[in-house]
Amino acid sequence: MNSEAQITDCFGYECIKKVLISEDEIKAAVAAEGRRITEEYRGKPLMIVGLLKGSFIFAADLFRAVKIPCEMGFMAVSSYGSGSVSKGSVDITMDIGRDISGYHVIIAEDIIDTGHTLAEVCRILRQRSPLSLKVVTLLDKPERREVDFKADVSLFTIPDAFVVGCGLDYGEKYRNLPFIAEVEL
Ligand code: IMP
Ligand code: MG
Repeated sequence: MNSEAQITDCFGYECIKKVLISEDEIKAAVAAEGRRITEEYRGKPLMIVGLLKGSFIFAADLFRAVKIPCEMGFMAVSSYGSGSVSKGSVDITMDIGRDISGYHVIIAEDIIDTGHTLAEVCRILRQRSPLSLKVVTLLDKPERREVDFKADVSLFTIPDAFVVGCGLDYGEKYRNLPFIAEVEL
């Protein structure tokens, strides 16, 4: 699909400025990462933990792309502060509800922006002694980093822009767009 066609197929959402990553590019990257995880974790107890709400689509897509026995967990966190800026500390609003100590854990995240959310979530999960802990993120905005945090795998590096689609929202909308687009704020 060319970007012109995508722009006209935004499910009636307004404010879409530009498509940054197409649905096909996302599918290919997720499939490749699923294959990589399949090989790396073969024979090991694996749990993929999605951070709600933003990662629910990426986490589910990645989960289906993993072709070995694998369990799923979800956690919801909210950053203090409002709007689109994360303020540095996070509240667990829904916990995994499982003992992760017998598992290799992969956190599936939608986007790393300032890095505060993931730095804090990793600190909390490490205290629970998983066999290993890695972070796979769909998107990474390294220019915006405020803490020294690096994902083990990031599928796409994007510039400093506010993006939506594939689970990412702007005012709770746009999550169902199948591509990643920049919005006009
Ligand atoms: P961080 O703590 O600043 O890294 O915040 C990460 C969280 O902020 C993500 O999990 C998203 O929920 C949200 N976020 C950051 N940038 C964007 C964006 O461009 N679009 C939508 N949500 C974003
Ligand atoms: Mg998120």
